[in-house]
Amino acid sequence: METNMKKTGAFLPPEAIREQLAAADRIRLGYAAQGRTDDNAPGYYVLTFGCQQNEADSERLGGLCAAMGYRRVDDMADADLILVNTCAIREHAEKKALSIIGSCKHLREKNPDLLVGIGGCMVTQKHRADKLKNSYPYVTFTFDTGAVHLLPSLVENALAGGKRQFIHSEAYEIAEGLPLDRTSKHMAWLSVMYGCNNFCSYCIVPYVRGRERSRRMEDILTEAKMLIADGAKDITLLGQNVNSYGKDLADSADDPDFSDVVRAVCALDGDFRLRFMTSHPKDASDRLIAAIADCPKVARHFHLPVQSGSDEILKRMNRKYTSAHYKSLIDRLKAAVPDISITSDIIVGFPGETEEDFEATLDMLRYVEYDMIFSFIYSPRPGTPAAEMPDQVPHEVSTARFERLLALQNEISLRRNERFLGQTLRVLVEGVSKTDDNMLTGRGDPVRPVHFPGESSLIGQFVNVKIEKITPFTLEGAMSN
Ligand code: 5AD
Ligand code: SF4
Repeated sequence: METNMKKTGAFLPPEAIREQLAAADRIRLGYAAQGRTDDNAPGYYVLTFGCQQNEADSERLGGLCAAMGYRRVDDMADADLILVNTCAIREHAEKKALSIIGSCKHLREKNPDLLVGIGGCMVTQKHRADKLKNSYPYVTFTFDTGAVHLLPSLVENALAGGKRQFIHSEAYEIAEGLPLDRTSKHMAWLSVMYGCNNFCSYCIVPYVRGRERSRRMEDILTEAKMLIADGAKDITLLGQNVNSYGKDLADSADDPDFSDVVRAVCALDGDFRLRFMTSHPKDASDRLIAAIADCPKVARHFHLPVQSGSDEILKRMNRKYTSAHYKSLIDRLKAAVPDISITSDIIVGFPGETEEDFEATLDMLRYVEYDMIFSFIYSPRPGTPAAEMPDQVPHEVSTARFERLLALQNEISLRRNERFLGQTLRVLVEGVSKTDDNMLTGRGDPVRPVHFPGESSLIGQFVNVKIEKITPFTLEGAMSN
């Protein structure tokens, strides 16, 4: 009985969703009564900052907007409803969001009926929501990451001339059954779990996305089938720490873990590629490595953020693994999947990072030979333990280390890309190159963009490309059979 309660406790009751969908319908009918349908329908614009989880949430916000009778517009100035989905991971992300939100002021002056709603991780921090409430009077409502589904009632209240609303739900229940408005036909995000329990000492995520909650396997598979039927060719399974999947659902040792999710999605019919992110090195398992090795639909790519190569810094980051553990995981991964591309996140200038600690990170880069890294200068986040730690590293020291890190990684990336010369890669065509109309851009299994001449009619299809030229950042070639 107790486990049953646990299983349903993390889910929003279906009637709560039905209520919101009914509100959306009333809004849509209201617009229809004014003749505002099709081309004349009110416009919505969702601006997304931050990670793929936010991208996924924004597709739900878009789905709710469509259910309310809004149509997506490409220019913020044409919107009747602007939603900004914010990020809080680094100070820079917050500053960027605040500046865009500031620019809504003059749009509101031009269109007094404009609704401006702010969601996401930044406003889930109470002090940020309070700031928007007090200093940004043209913001109509805010809603935290646990309140995405409440969008229709927020809009309904605003359209009826109700007071501004600032939702701080902190409920973080899983909302199944919300509509989706997908932004790319062939790429898709599929959340398998939400939240994080790890409390890495620098990270704001556990405070703004709540504790780990897993979706039910049947809900994941239903959504995966829907995405495949809708044309998705590159599906990324998402979670803050995907390897924790199922721990909160577990009744018995036979319950599925993340490797079972990977295998079950791969077993679905259809020609698609499967990716996943993010894995925590303390939890990445041999079962998962075996699933990558066994399932041809899984991209030969593993994003395994190490953050630092120094044991002392890892300890202070509360990462719960050592550099030796990480290296042994890499060894097992390379042994099981020899053509794997490994990528990582690295933080430079964590409090107390010495030259020696930083050298250990450089050594880690040399040991693993990452295909690519995402590197960040440490940014103190108020409310996290690291922000209170002594020995904050001066910005000029962090910047200099950051440059050295990038220079080393560029050398390694170029060396890693050499292995593709003369090889034929299976590439999903993503679009026309931004710099040359005759060139297409796509992605193979590794995360590198691949450029090659071709017709735009190939967008969304898999093609074979023989690689003829490389840089540290891109691969170039020509289509072949
Ligand atoms: N400062 C800098 N980088 C951070 N990250 C998370 N929190 C911070 C912070 N406070 C980075 C980590 C994480 C990635 C998504 O963002 O490398 O893996
Ligand atoms: Fe942040 Fe660590 Fe959780 Fe990743 S695992 S979201 S870095 S606390």
